[in-house]
Amino acid sequence: MVLEKEGNRLSRVYDDLFGHSPTYGQLYYSLVKKLQPKFGLELGVDRGMSAYAYLCGCDGILVGVDLLSLDELYPDLTYNPKWLAAEFADQFIFMNGSTENVVPTLHEKYEFDYVYIDAHSNDISTFGACVARDLGLCYSLVSDKGLIVIDDYSWSRGVGDVINEFKHTHPEWVEFHFQDLGMGSHQTNAALLARYDLREVMK
Ligand SMILES: C[S@@+](CC[C@H](N)C(=O)[O-])C[C@H]1O[C@@H](n2cnc3c(N)ncnc32)[C@H](O)[C@@H]1O
Repeated sequence: MVLEKEGNRLSRVYDDLFGHSPTYGQLYYSLVKKLQPKFGLELGVDRGMSAYAYLCGCDGILVGVDLLSLDELYPDLTYNPKWLAAEFADQFIFMNGSTENVVPTLHEKYEFDYVYIDAHSNDISTFGACVARDLGLCYSLVSDKGLIVIDDYSWSRGVGDVINEFKHTHPEWVEFHFQDLGMGSHQTNAALLARYDLREVMK
């Protein structure tokens, strides 16, 4: 796997950030590299895999939100979200707090081209409710050409149910999966929502 930031900085994969799920890291990186968002929002930073994929894939701003602070997220790792915030100081804005409290403060400040939803505890039975909460909080902040990436689609039936309900009430949003884009397999664990044909854009 090759991960590179064109131009100046990074040309290597840091295992602390990426090693636990290189396949997903590579997919998110490829998506971002193609779409080149100017503003991204990530709900659930945790170890920083998906944030790192975004930051390497484009020069856009990323607003990352997490219940835990930068000092609390993986302090024992060298390459952790705190390191990301320093290394990508011109791109990465970290906001500590719950999505319910933070996302409403972003209205009128940002219109996002890329939103990544992954804010939950380890209790799989709550994933659907967390996605419902965060989808409701952020979909109106997404630009016309924007994309919403929802993690944990394959692992939690509840997430799929929430997406179906959202599409029912918001029929302008269309669901895609990485395999529709010629990337990943049918088991790839994310659903993508856009108000346009993402397949055309990713060609
Ligand atoms: C599955 S991890 C995110 C993984 C991350 N996207 C990555 O690629 O490494 C979920 C994260 O969501 C955070 N979280 C849980 N509930 C939250 C909430 N209500 N608001 C903000 N963050 C939350 C947790 O602290 C945890 O760091």
